[in-house]
This record gives sequence, C-alpha cells and structure tokens, in this order.
Amino acid sequence: MHHHTQVGIIGAGPAGLLLSQLLTKKGIRSVLLENRPRARVENRQRAGLLEQGTVDRLRQAGATDRLDREGLVHDGVILSFNGQRHRLDLADLTGGSRVTIYAQTEVVKDLIQLRLSESEEAIRFEAEATAITGLDTDRPTIEYTQHGESHTITCDFVAGCDGFHGISRQTIPAHLTTTYDKIYPYCWLGILAKIPPSTQELIYAYHANGFALHSMRSPEVSRLYVQCAPTDTLDDWPDERIWAELQLRLGTQGWTLTEGPIFEKTITPMRSFVSEPMQFGRLFLAGDSAHIVPPTGAKGLNMAVADTGVLFEGLSAWYDSGDRTQLDAYTDACMRRVWRVQEFSNFMTEMLHQNPDKLPFDAHLQAARFNALVDNRTASQLVAKRYVGLAH
Ligand code: APR
Ligand code: PHB
Repeated sequence: MHHHTQVGIIGAGPAGLLLSQLLTKKGIRSVLLENRPRARVENRQRAGLLEQGTVDRLRQAGATDRLDREGLVHDGVILSFNGQRHRLDLADLTGGSRVTIYAQTEVVKDLIQLRLSESEEAIRFEAEATAITGLDTDRPTIEYTQHGESHTITCDFVAGCDGFHGISRQTIPAHLTTTYDKIYPYCWLGILAKIPPSTQELIYAYHANGFALHSMRSPEVSRLYVQCAPTDTLDDWPDERIWAELQLRLGTQGWTLTEGPIFEKTITPMRSFVSEPMQFGRLFLAGDSAHIVPPTGAKGLNMAVADTGVLFEGLSAWYDSGDRTQLDAYTDACMRRVWRVQEFSNFMTEMLHQNPDKLPFDAHLQAARFNALVDNRTASQLVAKRYVGLAH
C-alpha cells in the first residue's frame, strides 16, 4: 500500500510521540511508525524526572492533565558522600525552578492515549521502517513492513525518532557522520518496590561500595538503583543483597530505608554517545537516535523533548512560510546544548560512581568535587541550574 503524508515519523518513544502530537495541534499531518506492540512501548522502564522546559512542551502538546494531578514537584535534591548528606535547595539556588517526578512510561502512555483518541490510525504499531530513500529530493520515501506486508510512505520530511538501535542514523552516509562513544565500566541495577519512598526528595549517593540512588514513582512506589559490575547478572543480586547494599550506600545516621516487595529488576549499561550531524537532506534525528547520556541526572528524556521542540519549530516555520532557515540550522541549534548536557551527565556520573580502574588520586578528586558543592554557593547554584535544565 502507498500513502502520502507531510511528516513521516519513525519511532513512538517520547520524541516521536511528542512530535506527532505537536504537529497535529498545528494542523500538520504525520504518520507515526513503531515496530513494537503498544504494550511493549508502554512498559519500558526509564527515568522519571522532568525539567520545567519539558513540562512546558508537554503542556503545549496538551499532554499534562494527568501529569498535573500525579506529578510530584520537588524543590530540592540530596547528594550523599559516604553518609554525609548535602541538600541542594533547587528552588532557592535557581531562583524558583523545580523538577517534576513523573515516569517516562506515564509520559508515553499519556501521549499514546492522546494520539489514539484523535485517530485510531495515528500510530501504526508493529510497523518496522526498513529503508529511507530520496532524502536529497523533496519527496523522501519510507519503506516499512507491518504484519508481513510491505508498504511505502512518501512525505515532505522524515523525523528519525527511532532510538539508538533505529535505522535513521544509519541512513546518513558514513563519510558525513562523526560519532563519539564512551562506555562506562559499571552498570545500574534498577528496582521498583511496592513501598512508600523513605525520602521526600531524591538521594544520589557516593559510597566505597559504589553509587546508589533513591528515587520514586508515586507515594506508593519507590524506584532505587545500585551500581553493579558490567559482568553481573540478576542472579548475582537476590533481593536481600540489593536491600543490604542500598541500606549501606544510602545510609546516614538517624535514617533507615524501609524495605518492601520488589516487583521489577533490570540492569542498564551506561554510555555516552553523540552522532553529528543530526540531519541529512530531509531527514532529522531527535532523541536517542542522535545521542545517549548515562542516566545519572536523568537527562535522556529531557534532551529528546528539547530536540523535538527545536524540530517542531523548524517544521512549523517551513509550513507557515516556506522558510527553511531554521530546519537548515537544526543541528547547530541542538549541538551546543547536547554537548553541555553530555558534560553534565558525565560530571554527575564520574563524581558519584566507583570506577574499578581509578587511582587513589581520582578518589580525592571525587571528594573535592563534592566538597566544592558543600562549601561554595556559586558551585551549588551552577549544578542546581543544570539539574533543573536552566543552564544549557
Ligand atoms: N521502525 C519503527 N520503529 C522503530 C524502529 C524501526 N526501524 N527502530 C526503533 N523503533 C522504535 C523503538 O521501538 C522505540 O519505541 O523507536 C522508538 C524509540 O524510542 P526511544 O528509544 O524511547 O527514544 P526517544 O523517543 O528518543 O526517547 C529518548 O527514551 O531511551 C530513552 O533514555 C532515553 O529517556 C530517553 C528517551
Ligand atoms: C528515576 O526515577 O528513574 C531516576 C531519577 C533520577 C535520575 C535517574 C533516574 O537521575
């Protein structure tokens, strides 16, 4: 079957879903292809911290009804160094900004529901894009297969929102692309536990045994992470070991972590990755298809939303007046922020983890970085601003 649309979007993660919703509100037609079934997309566990700019974009898309009711607004965040805690008062340090705790899975569910409530055809699930051609013409084509049948879509533009493993980035000729990759020698083991959070604000902890993070999903569900080795499997981490390590790494005098039933466990590798440029002809990459950050600081979703916002503005300008200036400048408009966020995610990661290869000297540098935050309001202000998404 052959079909024509204005913007062909590949991938129904946060980037693709948000783009299709923003375009629809603006009266621009799109087709959204997603190779996984709906249930798979809705149940992928990812981070859950939204910057104000992310909430603002979701509001522009009309996707904040449930977020406004259920999102937990946090005024501060706690950094712990071998049991010594330091609270960053985000609202005070940033002149009134905060973060919202609301899981990426819920953002995705809300956007899917919104798109499908407007049209059952809005998202084609189990539809795998297999080739993108004609990017140097004004009628690019996406080939895809769905339920064993081949289809094509012609469009004005292609949005490559298909994540790290998608085909969009690979479609850009290799000689035009530069990639930057860094793999960290540790992973995160993440759990969801049916227990009210033992803390009102997130706790990021450095400990001799490794990093730990106490986050949350709701007043009833806690989200916690422990640093583990890349060679570890879930068999190495029975529940008792997870809780014992969390108690130790997050612990401080006069505070206990309440334990509860664990209902989900996953190990996530940690990497930094950037591919430049983020466009080729009529193809534009947004989100994980162009870059990956390690999860410390939860910037992945926020970066995907920021890219999507820039792409949406560029497409809007083109459809409003035929002006391609903003689209042509898409990569440049994103790159400075992408590298700033890479630097922040790397800073947070390297300050707080135990690198098995580090020298005793490096451990002192980690402590010095932490002490700079404790001792110096200007240093705290900068980290707080970057954490809430103000200083990129
Ligand atoms: N055809 C159709 N869909 C595809 C294809 C393909 N060939 N390849 C991948 N996809 C889909 C995936 O199944 C996935 O649903 O593209 C989607 C990409 O979504 P994400 O990986 O969530 O990427 P993105 O929207 O950029 O969101 C970035 O999600 O990965 C996290 O930590 C990351 O928080 C960040 C955010
Ligand atoms: C999460 O809630 O999953 C989360 C929160 C903050 C992070 C990373 C993950 O920095």
